[in-house]
Amino acid sequence: MPMNRPAGFWKDLPKPIFTLAPMIDVTDAAFRRVIAGLGKPDVFFTEFVSCRGLFSPGRPKLMKLLRYDENQRPIVAQVFGKEPEYFLKTAEMVQDLKFDGIDINMGCPDKNICKQSSGAALIKDPELAKEIIHATIEGAGNLPVSVKTRIGFNKRITEEWLGHLLQTEPVAVTVHLRTAKEMSKVEAHWEEMEIAAPMFKGSNTLLMGNGDLRDLDHAQEMVNKYEIDGAMLGRAIFGNPWLFDRTRKSAEIPLAERLDVMQMHADSFLEIFGDEKNFLIMRKHLREHAAGFNGAKELRVALETISNPEDVRQALDYFRLKYLKQSV
Ligand SMILES: Cc1cc2nc3c(=O)[nH]c(=O)nc-3n(C[C@H](O)[C@H](O)[C@H](O)COP(=O)(O)O)c2cc1C
Repeated sequence: MPMNRPAGFWKDLPKPIFTLAPMIDVTDAAFRRVIAGLGKPDVFFTEFVSCRGLFSPGRPKLMKLLRYDENQRPIVAQVFGKEPEYFLKTAEMVQDLKFDGIDINMGCPDKNICKQSSGAALIKDPELAKEIIHATIEGAGNLPVSVKTRIGFNKRITEEWLGHLLQTEPVAVTVHLRTAKEMSKVEAHWEEMEIAAPMFKGSNTLLMGNGDLRDLDHAQEMVNKYEIDGAMLGRAIFGNPWLFDRTRKSAEIPLAERLDVMQMHADSFLEIFGDEKNFLIMRKHLREHAAGFNGAKELRVALETISNPEDVRQALDYFRLKYLKQSV
């Protein structure tokens, strides 16, 4: 019997649904602000946040993971943990924070997370996993509850595991097509979608695939091939913040615009996080942005020593002068 779970914004999305993967230390509120301005995915997720941590003295530090702008909607809070009662409390909190949905991480292969029986370790304990989904649904009220997971822990158990998840009728499941043990070291096993896709047909749960997608064309190809509802893209956004812009290809983006985006990212980072987050994290982002154009290496070297947005401005101004012959 269908349980008529709240489907929230998910039911209104045109298909295929293309989402930006949650990536800790990458897809923070500043990064998402930049992406939202350039070419928006259909759904944003926050970086994952610990349910237990949110109810510990560490809460103030974790709250910065749950910041977002209005133009990032629909925005889904991604959470992890192992205790159903903390999922329930977190879901209530996520409602209060006016998120559009809550997503449970059942895919993180990190040793520290799995040692705490969280993330992908839940694949080994389907009864607990289902209890967690039920508790989250209970706390979430009208918010839709989704799951992000993998196809097994040590070995592929796609049918068995997704069968467990489907019993709880989450609104959507995103499947990263690798086992936890495989981390990201082997190619994603997209062929497992031949098993997964028919299981979701006729269910109330949307199915999205994830793993190694290069761009929207590639994602569309996989969606068509396996007749699924959508796809999630992660690392393809590194160095290509225009990934979700359906009107332009990355190669068409003028250099001047690329440089402006770097500055905007640095400014947004400071504006959103102030000194709560180390600005030096921006060095990594800027390194990713500064690739694929004439003089990129020189710019990367210059950006390696930046410590604040003003340093970024100076490095970019110098570069503009030299490569765009633009006076500043
Ligand atoms: C730096 C980094 C951080 C990640 N953090 C998260 C996370 O917080 N939550 C999550 O569910 N997956 C996380 N992932 C996994 C991605 O969401 C995605 O499943 C994975 O990168 C495979 O997709 P891709 O090949 O399109 O990158 C992370 C991946 C990377 C590379």
